Amino acid sequence: MTALAIPGLDSAPTAHQRLLEWVHEVAELTTPDRVVWADGSDEEWERLTAKLVEAGTFTPLKQKPNSFWAASDPGDVARVEERTFICSVDPQDAGPTNHWMDPAEMKATMTELYRGCMRGRTMYVIPFCMGPLDAEKPMLGVEITDSEYVVVSMRVMTRMGSKALAKFGEDADFVPCLHSVGAPLDEGQQDVAWPANETKYISHFPETREIWSYGSGYGGNALLGKKCYSLRIASVIGRDEGWLAEHMLILKLISPENKVYYIAAAFPSACGKTNLAMLEPTIPGWKVETLGDDIAWMKFGEDGRLYAVNPEAGFFGVAPGTDWHTNPNAMRTIERGNTVFTNVALTDNGDIWWEGMGEPPAHLTSWKKEDWTPDSGELSSHPNSRYCTPMSQCPILAPEWDDPNGVPISAIFFGGRRKDTIPLVTESRDWNHGTFMGATLSSETTAAAKGKVGVVRRDPMAMLPFIGYNAADYFAHWIATGKRADAAKLPKIFYVNWFRRGEENQFLWPGFGENSRVLKWAIERIEGKAAAQETPIGYVPTLADLDTEGLDASQEDLEAALKVNREEWLAEIPLIEEWFDKMGEKLPTSLKDELAALKQRLNG
Ligand code: GTP
Ligand code: MN
Ligand code: MN
Repeated sequence: MTALAIPGLDSAPTAHQRLLEWVHEVAELTTPDRVVWADGSDEEWERLTAKLVEAGTFTPLKQKPNSFWAASDPGDVARVEERTFICSVDPQDAGPTNHWMDPAEMKATMTELYRGCMRGRTMYVIPFCMGPLDAEKPMLGVEITDSEYVVVSMRVMTRMGSKALAKFGEDADFVPCLHSVGAPLDEGQQDVAWPANETKYISHFPETREIWSYGSGYGGNALLGKKCYSLRIASVIGRDEGWLAEHMLILKLISPENKVYYIAAAFPSACGKTNLAMLEPTIPGWKVETLGDDIAWMKFGEDGRLYAVNPEAGFFGVAPGTDWHTNPNAMRTIERGNTVFTNVALTDNGDIWWEGMGEPPAHLTSWKKEDWTPDSGELSSHPNSRYCTPMSQCPILAPEWDDPNGVPISAIFFGGRRKDTIPLVTESRDWNHGTFMGATLSSETTAAAKGKVGVVRRDPMAMLPFIGYNAADYFAHWIATGKRADAAKLPKIFYVNWFRRGEENQFLWPGFGENSRVLKWAIERIEGKAAAQETPIGYVPTLADLDTEGLDASQEDLEAALKVNREEWLAEIPLIEEWFDKMGEKLPTSLKDELAALKQRLNG
């Protein structure tokens, strides 16, 4: 190794050779002013948050302890799917749904972008672990970044710093994650509050299991342990090793008889995972506890059941719409402080506010850092504004959330945001049919990604932006997973839609805490205690089969929410066919068979 005169570079608290070499290589390329190894201590948090306050990135909140308001650059507010690449050697391995670039070409391009990109900044080295530190094989990573915002956020979202580094030994495997905001500073140049670059790349190298991110400071693009590692790269590892990395919440449902069930659910971004994960059941005697709100890694246990672990340690939740009525447990979590709020509004007394929190105050500072009043005619908070808060503060956190063995999953829910066609809940016939439901999952687009909102697109298993390889191979992996266990031990798969609308455009189903009624029905189906109607699309409850006691909704709306409308489904078929055509040759035959059988049942 060459001796580079960069302060901090040679005081690495590890003897891990590959890590040291990589850190040197990156420092040489990006030429930061200094190198700091993140240890995850309170002292470090205080130092970095103070630095962010001084830089104007953070404003300390007066009404919440140890919490901060941040406003991003208005051009850096969401994941950039157009700029997200799967750089497999063979373009076939990126498949029909990902953007592909040749790995050597991408590395050449990005190396030039990275050259000198940390000038005038500090380069942080963040060792982290996704999932429990006590796992037999801890899932390690190292993020190198020039953003203090990233270091602070990674501390909330992952197990990082010294406790993670302790797991590296001298040769443990890890995923190198390189991140830069792409905003070098010249001598004496004044920094901006949210450094970023108009050129953005979020690149994944599945064969070598590396992540290179450039130009964005925003969550999903910059906190590389999250979507990039725990979904895109982990999905590839899962394919190779026989497990599943999914965009799923994990919740624990406790019945009035104290029976415990674990449920995983995949909904596209901004379609209700965090809400369902922290649900307060409206039906007496039932309780929910939370294990995760975004990502689940699921592996077979020795007993043949599928066990889920949440790789994260924090919640990066959508802020608008969150309040004491919709998600009181999220409110209680953030009330405890230690939270970073990005792109919400700031109140005059130093608290946060966003749309959905009731009556707006007379004056706010908007996420654009402009004066805002209720007459402003624009939103005070960006629709994809987020809170970043430690899971440990959640009052209904399940005590087993950190268990390296995970929890056995009884049911998997797939769901999307559809104003028509998809009933409130449908139970699949078997694993393959459930995989078909997941593979054809559709949803109206939301603000969580850049682009038009409200367009129906297929979002298989809510993983469209996160499958790190060929989507058809991913479906085959799901089908194969179902063959690896006794059918009786596999989770039952359900398809839900909280977002169906009526003639006045009203939601037909009240949602939120009332979704516990759907959870209850699903569990009773598994227990063989609830009835359902067999329909062409699967098993659907009649209104009598659902527990509707005390539910404040019209019978007409509820019946419309449950209805299987043959005409709407017949109109759906060509969309599914078009989607399957896009998948090409690799589409598993069993999914083609499912489609043929569905068509036959609809026409029969
Ligand atoms: P990511 O964190 O981006 O992956 O999204 P998420 O799936 O966690 O989404 P979240 O739970 O934050 O949902 C965000 C939006 O869904 C908000 O606008 C909520 O108000 C709305 N929402 C959640 N649950 C329900 C529901 O049961 N009914 C209705 N109508 N809206 C809901
Ligand atoms: Mn998500
Ligand atoms: Mn969420």
